[in-house]
Amino acid sequence: IFKILAAAASGYLLGSLNTALIVGKIYRKDIRQHGSRSAGLTNTLRVLGKPAAAFVLAGDVLKGIAAALIGLHLGVYVNSGEAIDCLSLLAAGAGAVIGHNWPVYFGFKGGKGALTAAAVLFMINWVMALISLGLFVTIVALTRYVSLGTISAAILLVAISFVPDFGNTFYFHLFACAMACIVIFKHRENIRRLFSGTENKLTF
Ligand code: G3P
Repeated sequence: IFKILAAAASGYLLGSLNTALIVGKIYRKDIRQHGSRSAGLTNTLRVLGKPAAAFVLAGDVLKGIAAALIGLHLGVYVNSGEAIDCLSLLAAGAGAVIGHNWPVYFGFKGGKGALTAAAVLFMINWVMALISLGLFVTIVALTRYVSLGTISAAILLVAISFVPDFGNTFYFHLFACAMACIVIFKHRENIRRLFSGTENKLTF
């Protein structure tokens, strides 16, 4: 249990390094006061432009990967039936997403966690990650609503995680459901805007 807590805590501290807010310091702009007020990739692209967004993309993906690697290194495995789960990996990944959304260094006000969660998911099961990413790209390409793409990908992930071929266990389901709930909860304003037809479309 100590190692699992250590994994979650390291993930949280890493995830709290919210790249959108760090880049904002360079541009002298707190993006939580502009655009959708979310400290994430989409809003960085919207408010600060492409170079800043590229930095956020790299930073948020790298921290997700780093958290996952720490979790793997701590190596707490549990054998549940047929499959083996790396509990410390799941804990570190969840910590990173929570840190990104509620960062300890930035007054607990961050982003929506989708990109960090996607990076962690790629480290856990890249096939499921790729399927969700495929839906995300398709929906964004068709509608230009990044939020709709993200929410749909989160729901699809939970749905496909139950496909028996993936051999997922209780712990992975718990992880996937919790991450999807957090991401969707963080999109509640976007959902309201989508229904009222006032959601921002992605433009270049
Ligand atoms: O992952 C965030 C994206 O789905 C929406 O971002 O800034 O439009 O709220 P934003």
